[in-house]
Amino acid sequence: MMRTRPLKVALLGCGVVGSEVARIMTTHADDLTARIGAPVELAGVAVRRPSKVREGIDPALITTDATALLKRGDIDIAIEVIGGIEPARTLITTAFENGISVVSANKALLAQDGAALHAAAGAAGLDLYYEAAVAGAIPLVRPMRESLAGDKINRVMGIVNGTTNFILDKMDSTGAGYQEALDEATALGYAEADPTADVEGYDAAAKAAILAGIAFHTRVRLDDVYREGMTEVSAADFASAKRMGCTIKLLAILERAADGESVTARVHPAMIPLTHPLSSVREAYNAVFVEAEAAGRLMFYGPGAGGSPTASAVLGDLVAVCRNKLAQATGPGESAYTQLPVSPMGDVVTRYHISLDVADKPGVLAQVATTFAEHGVSIDTVRQQGRQDGSGKEASLVVVTHRAPDAALSGTVEALRKLDTVRGVASIMRVEGE
Ligand code: NDP
Ligand code: HSE
Repeated sequence: MMRTRPLKVALLGCGVVGSEVARIMTTHADDLTARIGAPVELAGVAVRRPSKVREGIDPALITTDATALLKRGDIDIAIEVIGGIEPARTLITTAFENGISVVSANKALLAQDGAALHAAAGAAGLDLYYEAAVAGAIPLVRPMRESLAGDKINRVMGIVNGTTNFILDKMDSTGAGYQEALDEATALGYAEADPTADVEGYDAAAKAAILAGIAFHTRVRLDDVYREGMTEVSAADFASAKRMGCTIKLLAILERAADGESVTARVHPAMIPLTHPLSSVREAYNAVFVEAEAAGRLMFYGPGAGGSPTASAVLGDLVAVCRNKLAQATGPGESAYTQLPVSPMGDVVTRYHISLDVADKPGVLAQVATTFAEHGVSIDTVRQQGRQDGSGKEASLVVVTHRAPDAALSGTVEALRKLDTVRGVASIMRVEGE
């Protein structure tokens, strides 16, 4: 039976993502009605600048008073695509207080306050869906929350930020400068309102926190995620990576400890072999490997940012929430029953690529090797290249280690910096995916 009374939607935000949500809701209205079993109507659009021309949107729907829109009594579902913490948090809470289910793309807010928002939705018997918050168009949240709900996920590794992948890809493939590539990513609508969130790894860390919580059924907040951005990655790092048959990607890596008693969550640039599927993820695409006990290795791949791809994920959630409403049901809420603690970065075990500037004289290599050995870090390969810098004979020393705990590597680097013969530590990068 088709219901004729429409489900009414308040769109909070009408920027890069919101404008595409509105466009698809309008142009695909008949298909959405058929798929949901009831018409779905855009009943109001809250923005900051009411006079801005918004193609395809009835100006009568525009308001700057999002709270009044949510409180007017006829709204069934709110789509929050404003971003940031406030006013988004208060508006989502207001929606729940007024019996309105929420679809959000806001990873920053979910990583910070996901538990409280889930609790508020659960208490009110309403839905909170957020597929678009992680990896743009890629269906990832729902497959992990629902399709893999009967399996045990042990590891998740992926590229979850489109802007930084776009920049790293341009730097690697065309030799473009960092700023030039960032400007292009911003113009294409990939970057956050403040692109610091992208390039310093906060956006990827927020997504990592959300994914870790879902993967391990525990609560992981943004502050629990170790984070390094990609602003320090240089052309020299790409040259080193190439010599090793690798490229550089900003990765999010979430792992269950071998004893199953804790988890780790981290975001940092890493070298990965050119033979690894993540190395061929170009432009603003994202890709995520999920390793589950019974399923084995799964890979999710697709556009990770941009208005239209992100709107696809929002619309998928909208259809699901509308169907739930008609069935007088709700989808899954937060699952955090394992209460696994998040271990510090020092416990993570991986490989490292370290570039040192050293004095080129007898015994230096032995001294450096001894320092690694003293900290229990085993060396895999060493490459030395001599050069004259005007102040005396110097050399570049590149050390690649076997797997070692991050704490041991940090101790090694600290000791190396104190050696007279080590002029500087040019770069430290983790090596993943081997
Ligand atoms: P934009 O900055 O393009 O749009 C933000 C919108 O929110 C604008 O329409 C703005 O109004 C409106 N707005 C801002 N403050 C208020 C307020 N106080 N009250 C009402 N409206 C307000 O952001 P995006 O569309 O790029 O991103 C939206 C969300 O989607 C963010 O959470 C982002 O992280 C997430 N996201 C974005 C992706 C992308 O590729 N862009 C991908 C995945 C998720 P006005 O138009 O008047 O300025
Ligand atoms: N700024 C984000 C990115 C948008 O570049 O990935 C998608 O979440």
